[in-house]
Amino acid sequence: MTDIMLNIENVDKFYGPVGVGVHAVKGIDMQVARGEIIALLGSSGCGKTSTLRMVAGFEAVSRGRIHLAGREVHMLPPVKRNVAMAFEGYSLYPTVTVRDNIAFALKAARLPQSEVESRVRDVAQMLEITDILDRFPTSVSGGQQQRASLARALIRDADLHLLDEPMGQLEPQLRTLLRGRIKHFIKERGLTAILVTHDQTEANALADRIAVMEDGVLQQYASPAEIKERPANLFTGTFVGEPPMNVFPASASVSAGEILLNLAGGLVLRYPEAEFAPEVRQSILSRGDVVIGVRPYAVHRGEGGAEAQVVANQWLGDQTHIAAAFAESTVVLVEHDRARLSEGDRIRIALKPDDLHVFDPDSGMAISHGRGLA
Ligand SMILES: Nc1ncnc2c1ncn2[C@@H]1O[C@H](COP(=O)(O)OP(=O)(O)O)[C@@H](O)[C@H]1O
Ligand SMILES: [Mg+2]
Repeated sequence: MTDIMLNIENVDKFYGPVGVGVHAVKGIDMQVARGEIIALLGSSGCGKTSTLRMVAGFEAVSRGRIHLAGREVHMLPPVKRNVAMAFEGYSLYPTVTVRDNIAFALKAARLPQSEVESRVRDVAQMLEITDILDRFPTSVSGGQQQRASLARALIRDADLHLLDEPMGQLEPQLRTLLRGRIKHFIKERGLTAILVTHDQTEANALADRIAVMEDGVLQQYASPAEIKERPANLFTGTFVGEPPMNVFPASASVSAGEILLNLAGGLVLRYPEAEFAPEVRQSILSRGDVVIGVRPYAVHRGEGGAEAQVVANQWLGDQTHIAAAFAESTVVLVEHDRARLSEGDRIRIALKPDDLHVFDPDSGMAISHGRGLA
């Protein structure tokens, strides 16, 4: 049995009257296990901060329930929830030093001074802010304030740590360095954390599971690998993954033992029927019209594939991104070596059955991933 730390049940948020105001969060259901790190990932305005603020208690839920550590908390004020937070606008006390800001909760809890000191030292070292501990918040940079605020949250013994874009103001190199350290810090102490981010690299690197949100709706809640390999729908399929998944509308039919995927411009992909598990074959063919998705890393050049014509070729120092005209659209391929291709070159590309994601064109829901064969 998993030990559930947080249970968000069918929670809605309206700003303004229910049914009339902005419907920022729509029927979210999610559970977080003790010791888990969750990333709430989505574009700006999708409802991430609203969700976090309802868990923290800064916003009331419009509908639904929240349980934390076995207690019903959605009616309780923030101080009664035993939650530690690092939020934008949840600022440091300007009249005390960074050190005292970070130590505040531990001192209030009357921990022995030696323990307070050693814990402040550890978290400050981890976040590279040792040199500013004796300064006042207003005399340090925005990035340093942000790390001080993060330190103040991470140092606490709380049931849940809520971190809203905690590294948004940091340089990319520092973010990359701290990502690994923060994960280690959280895991070593067995903390449970929800991190809000719009940066999928950060979500992938830090989180055990990612909650992908769009327009107030939880689109998928799964491990980073599961989201990559089995996107629940076209939204998560194309939102998570860099460069984005290629998608092509197709109509599926069967002829002489082959499954034909008819793409725009008369392009036909052919696969022996036996390449697909019967239930996958069945669900693709019963739809007829489908959308096919293929990740750029899974598109390979080779003999015998379908023809495409190069429109762009970019070497990024460690990989090549090739864009080619294909099925009245564009297909993007990623290769690890430098590709010697020029605009206008004709290439042949192969799409293997194992790499095909198939979606319903109306609902956007995934129909199948790969061949469906073990
Ligand atoms: N206090 C508020 N009053 C009215 N609308 C709000 C308020 N806070 C957020 N919203 C709206 O709710 C939606 C979700 O916002 P938010 O939760 O901040 O998204 P995110 O953190 O994903 O960027 C947006 O449309 C935003 O404009
Ligand atoms: Mg936000």
